Amino acid sequence: MSDTDGEIVISVRGLRNAFGEQVIHDELDLDVHRGEILGVVGGSGTGKSVLMRSIIGLQHPVAGEVHVFGESMIGRDDTEATNVRKRWGVLFQGGALFSTLTVAENVEVPLREYYPELHQQLLDEIASYKIMMSGLPAEAAPKFPSELSGGMKKRAGLARSLALDPELLFLDEPTAGLDPIGAAAFDELTKNLKETLGLTVFLITHDLDTLHAICDRVAVLADRKVIAVGTIPELLALDHPWIQEYFNGPRGRAALGAKR
Ligand SMILES: Nc1ncnc2c1ncn2[C@@H]1O[C@H](COP(=O)(O)OP(=O)(O)OP(=O)(O)O)[C@@H](O)[C@H]1O
Ligand SMILES: [Mg+2]
Repeated sequence: MSDTDGEIVISVRGLRNAFGEQVIHDELDLDVHRGEILGVVGGSGTGKSVLMRSIIGLQHPVAGEVHVFGESMIGRDDTEATNVRKRWGVLFQGGALFSTLTVAENVEVPLREYYPELHQQLLDEIASYKIMMSGLPAEAAPKFPSELSGGMKKRAGLARSLALDPELLFLDEPTAGLDPIGAAAFDELTKNLKETLGLTVFLITHDLDTLHAICDRVAVLADRKVIAVGTIPELLALDHPWIQEYFNGPRGRAALGAKR
């Protein structure tokens, strides 16, 4: 249990989100511990992305408490939250790169936002470094997103999420759409970054291989809340139908058998 002990980086309590009549989360609780990769799984539309958006302050919950690094994220204006926001990086589902900016310029966006005094030469140097850390060739820097493959776009998004030297990384479906080799390479990269930079990672994924290969714990979203959180063996010991179907279904068993 060593990975699950220790300081709590993200704490969510009693979270409720609704869009009109549609209740997405109700009484949702979750803790993320420093230094862990927490996988977040759940059926499509169960509210994984909405949960992430609630934590980073892009979605205003109906009720509940969200603390990141001990600071409350609810009811804060942007300026107040800036010091906390600087400490995390986000890779959105689908990448969300600015299509009119090159890869290097995309990486520079958060730097310009938070450090407007930085000179172009330094911005370029930092961008090159982050691009390299993300496993992209230097030639990718002047390219536009439309000139990149899907896997390269993910890496460019990752480079941008690393721009501010974050302690905490949010990754929403980082391996979706990648071929198995590309996905495994991205997993490896995430794990290496976690280990070398001491990152805490909130990782939304459908990818069973990713869960087995790099996640320290997995949180399962169903019935509008986190119904279970633990290591995969701990989850397998539960008899919830969705958990059994997911981890013990044909794909779950294949992923377990192929565990890297
Ligand atoms: N801005 C919004 N306005 C209205 N409904 C929304 C909004 N954002 C999300 N929803 C709804 O909330 C539910 C949860 O969406 P969310 O994107 O969090 O799902 P998800 O678990 O991330 O799914 P997927 O695995 O397909 O990415 C969906 O029913 C979606 O239609
Ligand atoms: Mg989603």
